[in-house]
Amino acid sequence: MTNLHALFDQLTALLLQTQSYWRPVAFHHLQLPWMQEHPALVTRLFALKPQQVEILATDQMALLQYLATDIPGAEELASLSVLPQFECKHLTPVTPHFYSGMPGRKWQQINAFAACFADSQLPLLEWCAGKSYLGFYLQHLHSVKVTALEWDPNLVLQANCRAKQGHISLHSHQVDVLSPTVDIYVQQQQQVVALHACGELHERLLKLCVERKVQQVHIAPCCYHKRQHDHYLPLSQQGKAGGLALNKSELHTAVMETVTAGATVQKQRKRLQSMRLGFDCLQRELNNSEQFLDLPSLPAKWARASFSEFCLHCASLKDLTLPTTVDWDYYQNLGEQRFNQVSALDLIRFLFRRPIEVWLALDRALLLQENGYHVQIGTFCSSHITPRNILLRAQLP
Ligand SMILES: C[S@@+](CC[C@H](N)C(=O)[O-])C[C@H]1O[C@@H](n2cnc3c(N)ncnc32)[C@H](O)[C@@H]1O
Repeated sequence: MTNLHALFDQLTALLLQTQSYWRPVAFHHLQLPWMQEHPALVTRLFALKPQQVEILATDQMALLQYLATDIPGAEELASLSVLPQFECKHLTPVTPHFYSGMPGRKWQQINAFAACFADSQLPLLEWCAGKSYLGFYLQHLHSVKVTALEWDPNLVLQANCRAKQGHISLHSHQVDVLSPTVDIYVQQQQQVVALHACGELHERLLKLCVERKVQQVHIAPCCYHKRQHDHYLPLSQQGKAGGLALNKSELHTAVMETVTAGATVQKQRKRLQSMRLGFDCLQRELNNSEQFLDLPSLPAKWARASFSEFCLHCASLKDLTLPTTVDWDYYQNLGEQRFNQVSALDLIRFLFRRPIEVWLALDRALLLQENGYHVQIGTFCSSHITPRNILLRAQLP
């Protein structure tokens, strides 16, 4: 079995050594710290065509081959970040009726998760369950009593209707898992599962498991950046001692490897980001500032606005008065140029997505290990089904 302590220490050291490459976000800075040292690399990146950037951004192996010799430590980090795949059990197929209405990829994820599930007859608690698709499947496979916790009342209702109609031993409760009322649901003689519970939602579960000494835990973490506080303090003692601190935007880097979005969404994203960058060029000049001006996230409908409408809206959000005449075409073009440059420069940060994600997952694994759990960490499915494919499997002796 992998020595989690040693692996975590190696990753920590390499991430600290390479931090000037992955911490700064190109979208926020006109100059990145590594650009001065690597002028030839910058020229090479800026010469890439948008399609080439897109291919490299979505193919981690190709990206590594393209950049490994430029960035010391990148190759070692990549090889340390390869986790073993859990052994999958063969599951008896169910009729399509069982998963009707479930998005195809979700069913594949649930199947893969269930195939790596360590059998137990303990009652099961599903955390942030959504419609409790996973809970229903595990109930079907293992005939255990399932309690599901979910915040959205609609999803709770749907799960309970399905359970009632099918006489299935599953009950969903409408609960905010961050509130103190959740404590009563977490018990020692239990197995808990959490598939893609975001940042502080799965952090809360981990802390409660440790506190209550929950017998068996299966967690596939996701969206580490979705949390109230900007500053991430590692959860494990080893993490706290390691000296690697992350903020929200660095946590976000960990989950930037996504299944490619459809063409319409990609086009919308490109337009919105180019306009944001164009507005940023404009505000820097008006404010005579070197500072990026952060804007709240805007609904997709803004992708259909003209550039001037977009800027006027952003200016109003930031209490900024724009001059009566602005050369809109000039700033729009600047924004489009910046978008191409930012996309190319981001490739450097993308090299570190998986190492940061694995580091975060190991921090969670070590928290459990430090609290007496026997812990295994690996992948439960291929990254094509979901890039958030890391599973923590932990059991108290
Ligand atoms: C990414 S979804 C995952 C759902 C399900 N586990 C699955 O894989 O299909 C996260 C779920 O967490 C729920 N959620 C968000 N905040 C919550 C909270 N504070 N308490 C309980 N559930 C919450 C959301 O409503 C959503 O259903």
